[in-house]
Amino acid sequence: MTMALTDLLLLGRESDLESERGVSCTGELPSPSDPSLVERAQKARAALGDRALILGHHYQRDEVIAFADITGDSFKLAQAAAASPTAEYIIFCGVHFMAESADILTSVEQKVILPDLAAGCSMADMATASQVDECWKVLTDLGLADATIPVTYMNSSAAIKSFTGKNGGTVCTSSNAKRAMTWALEQGEKVLFLPDQHLGRNTAVLGLGLTLEDCVLWNPWKPMGGLTENEIRQAKIILWRGHCSVHGRFSLDSVKEVRERISGVKVLVHPECQHEVVAAADVVGSTEMIIKTIEAAPVGSAWAIGTELNLVSRLAKAHPDKSVVFLDKTVCYCSTMNRIDLPHLVWVMESLVNGHLVNQIQVQPEVAKYSKIALERMLALP
Ligand code: 13P
Ligand code: SF4
Repeated sequence: MTMALTDLLLLGRESDLESERGVSCTGELPSPSDPSLVERAQKARAALGDRALILGHHYQRDEVIAFADITGDSFKLAQAAAASPTAEYIIFCGVHFMAESADILTSVEQKVILPDLAAGCSMADMATASQVDECWKVLTDLGLADATIPVTYMNSSAAIKSFTGKNGGTVCTSSNAKRAMTWALEQGEKVLFLPDQHLGRNTAVLGLGLTLEDCVLWNPWKPMGGLTENEIRQAKIILWRGHCSVHGRFSLDSVKEVRERISGVKVLVHPECQHEVVAAADVVGSTEMIIKTIEAAPVGSAWAIGTELNLVSRLAKAHPDKSVVFLDKTVCYCSTMNRIDLPHLVWVMESLVNGHLVNQIQVQPEVAKYSKIALERMLALP
């Protein structure tokens, strides 16, 4: 039998993808209705012992959080990965960019696994490496790149983190964005903040006391980002036009409505929410900070929380002595975080027990080198 060149190339590409993704099977996924699922998870977890570390982001489902060794926001989980040199396997129950960061921060011997490879982040996809290169070229041509420090939110691809590390910048998360932006403005005159415009704007204006006029919005789909040369020169903060569709749902109307409906309610939101929502809230913070705020709140207090629903529901259940409600009237999960479920977790753990490494996340060494510089700058921020 002869094969056409294109077939051979396609075959090669498929096997490349197989090894890139480490996918060894379809159809081995346990059924969600398997009554022995929890038992299977417990058995596989026990068999892996200290060889595996399971990290769970706060937006994960309850059934997954039940098996997490460490839960946290993206900063805490990055720190946990970096501080676990003896775990052979890090099973990251979160989204793709978090698993990539864990791979960058761990040794080559350690394997990072994402239980479902389709667990991405739509915000991270809003800044591609070629779009960011194009923006940097404009800043270079205007003679501004040397004085501009890139700061990228953790919610970005390894390629964007690598660009940031190469150009003297840092990564930040929602828990250290203010420190990162302050640091960046000490290193240069301008900040290019990627890819979440809301976190960037909220940090600059509500955190650092800059004005809305100090910020401009770079639209990657328009020439020169849709800005004039003068606007770019005048700006202190160049915000990338990215956003989170989950947090974008909360509006000023939701804040007004809940204040009218629940007397004395405090509004607690994630900084990925729109500026007007964050400005109208009582407290703003990362997922870890949201949890700590509710834990420390007095009995009988009322809270409306603007973040992903798995976390808000868990908080409501864990604190029956306080009133915890979702800020918006319509419910909203992060669909990609929700892709990681118990069947996927059981599948990766049982595969490891049987000697098969599946769904490994591996960042290419040349990308990892500069991303690591940017991530380590973040971990070292004062
Ligand atoms: P945290 O760092 O606050 O956990 O946020 C991550 C995230 O993706 C929020 O949408
Ligand atoms: Fe990305 Fe938004 Fe989901 Fe966070 S909640 S992982 S920013 S899509």
